[in-house]
Amino acid sequence: MPNVIILGAQWGDEGKGKVVDRLAAKADLTVRYQGGANAGHTVVVDQAKFVLHLIPSGILNPNCVNYIGNGCVVDPEVLLQEMDGLVQQGIEVTSVRLKVADNAHVVTPYHKAWDRVTGGAIGTTGRGIGPCYVDKARRTGLRMADLVSGAYRNVMAKQAEEYAKLFKTVSTQEALPELADVLSRYELVAQRLAPHIADLVPPLAQAVAAKRNILLEGAQGTLLDVDHGTYPFVTSSNTTVGGALTGTGVFMELHHRIAVMKAYTTRVGHGPFPTELADELGETLRKKGQEFGATTGRPRRCGWLDLPLLQRAAWTNGFNSIALMKMDVLQGIDPIRVAIGRDAQGNPVYRAFEGFREDISGVRQFEQLPAACQRYISFLQTELGIPVNLLSTGPERNSTLIREMPW
Ligand code: IMP
Repeated sequence: MPNVIILGAQWGDEGKGKVVDRLAAKADLTVRYQGGANAGHTVVVDQAKFVLHLIPSGILNPNCVNYIGNGCVVDPEVLLQEMDGLVQQGIEVTSVRLKVADNAHVVTPYHKAWDRVTGGAIGTTGRGIGPCYVDKARRTGLRMADLVSGAYRNVMAKQAEEYAKLFKTVSTQEALPELADVLSRYELVAQRLAPHIADLVPPLAQAVAAKRNILLEGAQGTLLDVDHGTYPFVTSSNTTVGGALTGTGVFMELHHRIAVMKAYTTRVGHGPFPTELADELGETLRKKGQEFGATTGRPRRCGWLDLPLLQRAAWTNGFNSIALMKMDVLQGIDPIRVAIGRDAQGNPVYRAFEGFREDISGVRQFEQLPAACQRYISFLQTELGIPVNLLSTGPERNSTLIREMPW
C-alpha cells in the first residue's frame, strides 16, 4: 500500500489534525518524525475532543500502531500526561500501540526554563524545543535510551551545571529547576516510559517491506523549517519532507505527499508575513476562523494566501496533492485576494477574486460549490499544478469534500 506524508505548507496550524484523523482511520502505522510538544493537533471524534501534542493521531484508531521517531524531541512528563489523558478518555495506550525511538532526544526542565528566558525574541512556544535541539547538536543531550539505562542521572547533573552558568549571564525571574527534584521526578518517568522505548528502525523497516499503510505526520509547517523557513523566525527542526527520512531512520518511498494549507494564511510568533492583514479584515478572519493557538492559546496573525511562498513549499516537498482547509471562513469576504508575485520593492502583488455568499458546509461535490469558490480553487490548482483532493468546508468532521484519498 502507498506511504503517505502530511505536511503543513505554511506556518503551521493549517488543520493537519482533520486530514490526519481521516487517514489514520485506515493507517496501520502512524509516525511523528520531528518537533515536540510545540505542536497541537485537535481531533474531534464522535463529539469527543482530543488535543494531541506528541502522540501521533493514529492512537485514536484501535488498529493503528504509533511511533514517535528519533527526529522528535520528547518532553517525557508531557508525554505521560498526554497518555494518561487519553486513557481517561477510553483510549488504549499500551507499549505495543505507542513506541518512542530510543535515540529521540529528551526535553528537560532545563530546556524549558531556558526557552522561557530566551525564546521571546522569536515568540517560541516556550516548550523547550530550541534548547533541546541545541543540546542534541552540541552533543550534550539526553536521549530516551538514557532513561532506561539510568545514564540520565549523570547527563542531567551536567545539564544542571551548564544551565546554572547560562542563567548567570541573564537577568531573569525564572527559577532554575532543582536537580534533586528533577531527578526524583525522572525516576518515576523513566520507570513508566521504559516499556515504550525501543529501537524503531527494524520494526519500521519491516512495516515498509510488508507494504503496510504508513502515515508520516508532519508538525508545524514548511515556512517554520530551520533550513527552508523564514529564519531565524522558525522552529528548530526540519519540518519539510527531508525531515521524515532523517527523523525516522528508514528510507521509504513517499507516494502521496499531501500539502495541508488554509484558504488564507496565518502565523503565530514573530517574523515576516508579507500578506498579513493588520486591519479589520485580519480581525474578521481571526474571529471567523477561530485563529487562536492550540498549544499556547495565542491569537494568530491572519492574511491572504501567498502563491510565491506556496510554490516554494511545493518545490521543497514535492507535493502531489492538496488538502485545502477552512474554505468556509472566506464565505462573505469579497473580494478575496491572493498574492501572485512581488513588485520591485518586494511587496506582494495581488489578484482579486469575486467572493461567495453561500454556506458551503454541506457541499460534497466540487461541481456543486458556488462558481466563485470553484474559480478560486481552480486557479490555485492550475498555478501550483497540484490537485485539491480534499476541501474542508467547516469545522465538523463531515464538513469535508473529498475527491481522492490515498486509501
Ligand atoms: P518553537 O518551535 O516553540 O521554538 O517556536 C518557534 C516558532 O515556531 C514560533 O514562532 C512558534 O510560534 C512557531 N511554532 C512552533 N510550533 C508551532 C505550531 O505547531 N504551529 C504554529 N507555529 C508553531
